[in-house]
Amino acid sequence: MMLEFGKELDNTVQIMTRNYRGLAALDESVGTMGKRFLAFDIDNTAENRRHWREILLTSSPEFTIAIGGVILFTEQLDQRADDGKTLPELIQELGMVTGVKTDLGQASIAGTDETVLQGLDKLHERCRTYHHKGARFSKFRAIFPVDEAKGYPSARAVYINAFTLARMASICQQCGLVPVVEPEILANGTHTIEQHANACTRVWTAVFDELKAQEVDLTRMILKTSMVAPGLDSTQHIIPADIAQMTLNTLMATVPAAVPAVCFLSGGFKEQESTGMLNAINLHAARLGKANAPWQLSFSFARALQGSAMKAWAGNPANEETAQQCFVKRCRANHLAAQGLYKG
Ligand code: 13P
Repeated sequence: MMLEFGKELDNTVQIMTRNYRGLAALDESVGTMGKRFLAFDIDNTAENRRHWREILLTSSPEFTIAIGGVILFTEQLDQRADDGKTLPELIQELGMVTGVKTDLGQASIAGTDETVLQGLDKLHERCRTYHHKGARFSKFRAIFPVDEAKGYPSARAVYINAFTLARMASICQQCGLVPVVEPEILANGTHTIEQHANACTRVWTAVFDELKAQEVDLTRMILKTSMVAPGLDSTQHIIPADIAQMTLNTLMATVPAAVPAVCFLSGGFKEQESTGMLNAINLHAARLGKANAPWQLSFSFARALQGSAMKAWAGNPANEETAQQCFVKRCRANHLAAQGLYKG
């Protein structure tokens, strides 16, 4: 299929992924940012939400060696740094591209604990507006809880979310935004790594079946998803090498080689744990070789990039520089992990 923005999409993918870069997910919705701020008694005002993003983006430019794209929440597309530039202008000036969260959250499926992502209505118009404001890629997330006793993820949730993710990806490509397709198979729970792998297999298979059925150009998208691991409350004893092996086996069985990059979310794992898992995945991928692990395997973390930085800041202007140093440290560590070079 010919895409009007084909060359621009290629260019965007290149900037997002060049030299093992990852993505910084700074796209917490107003509600989610409120939860993050609450832990430090920071008021959830538009100004504080803007200021937090500005603190991170004005860290030592060293962080841009690790980050190719920054995902913002829609509110931030219009916000300005103290020097008057819009945040997308600041991001562009730093040599990165701006992404935007385009889903409108989740709606529950009646009588279940499962959800469907929202946001297809008027998505064309919204994407054109975001592109006009400087966004060049878009992220949208479907969430799948894992619970074997309840049969989750159910065939129904998998089908509806896969269809919706693919439809959103198609619209984004049509409007000049590289889709970052995010099926998150939740880490919350007591499931084993085998149960998580089984859920990931079913979800990723369905998502790629739909992407192909809807003729999404797989070379002009990025998969953002979970590393295959036991649940956060599982008692199963696992080492990062097991996570690496299970993640790559599952990706190899389901994700076409045409996809340029897989950027993992951190999912509630701690900062260093997430980095260690990503590093193990890349060490294992290097052993398998490009023929068996053809994608760039990088990161699109939110909590595992911002956690220690926000703790250091805690809303106090005197701590901003320390917060920036924490952010740069996590960016650098994850960039090393994306090459299998992180030493812990
Ligand atoms: P975490 O890395 O905190 O899981 O968030 C990733 C993300 O952006 C979810 O959409």
